[in-house]
Amino acid sequence: MTNASPLERGSTKITISRNIHRGVSLSTQKDTPLTPLKRGSETLYHFPTMSLHWETERLIMRPFEVKDAPLMIELNSDPDVVRYVDGDGYDTVEKVERFIRDYGQYDEYKMGRLSMFLKETGEYIGWSGLKYRPESDTVDVGYRLMKKHWGKGYATESARASLDYGFKTLGLNKIIAMAMMENTASINVFKKLGMRYTHNSECDNHPAVVYEITKEEWK
Ligand SMILES: CC(C)(COP(=O)(O)OP(=O)(O)OC[C@H]1O[C@@H](n2cnc3c(N)ncnc32)[C@H](O)[C@@H]1OP(=O)(O)O)[C@@H](O)C(=O)NCCC(=O)NCCS
Repeated sequence: MTNASPLERGSTKITISRNIHRGVSLSTQKDTPLTPLKRGSETLYHFPTMSLHWETERLIMRPFEVKDAPLMIELNSDPDVVRYVDGDGYDTVEKVERFIRDYGQYDEYKMGRLSMFLKETGEYIGWSGLKYRPESDTVDVGYRLMKKHWGKGYATESARASLDYGFKTLGLNKIIAMAMMENTASINVFKKLGMRYTHNSECDNHPAVVYEITKEEWK
């Protein structure tokens, strides 16, 4: 296990770091109260100052709420939106509500996909955010937007907020992104974020590409 190296923020050196899982380490300020959080026999840590309610230039991002279920179903019901993504089978309000209630990323890893709304009108436009994948011990950035909101830079804007949070607040060392090879729009977003192609992989038995960016590259 590696500890996150101390970060400089103004004149404050951030020195406390705790691993929540192999390779994924969190840093927080020295005087931040840590409330231990248990998962099985593993002790995790709760960071009350890590808010997942974000505001970007044009967007409001916040954790999924049960009332978002019909909006998420509407998002997934557009064949163009799900063309290059895993068929997740969340096609009824009941299933999506259960998914939202059981969504463990926020509590367990202090990250997660977030619902997104336009600041100006309050309209729901989709979701975006980080996801910790225990099976590969990686954190990825991902997004899914309603078609009428494509091409306006919202995926890039929201993903920038995610990378900033991941590196500067959580103290992650690396964030990856994966897309099916034909998903040019998504791959363009990776490039606009300054991510580097690393290798080919598979997504749902479909050829995919993996990109990554490190904390040093994001600075
Ligand atoms: C991928 C997706 C999130 C992109 O959202 P977006 O808000 O339109 O993205 P942005 O506007 O920030 O950037 C997209 C870039 O790709 C370009 N682009 C969009 N569609 C394209 C296409 N079919 N071919 C080539 N370039 C394309 C845009 O012009 C833009 O680049 P630019 O700023 O240099 O002009 C959106 O298309 C989507 O939700 N798709 C369905 C779900 C999905 O595939 N999610 C990603 C899974 S890996």
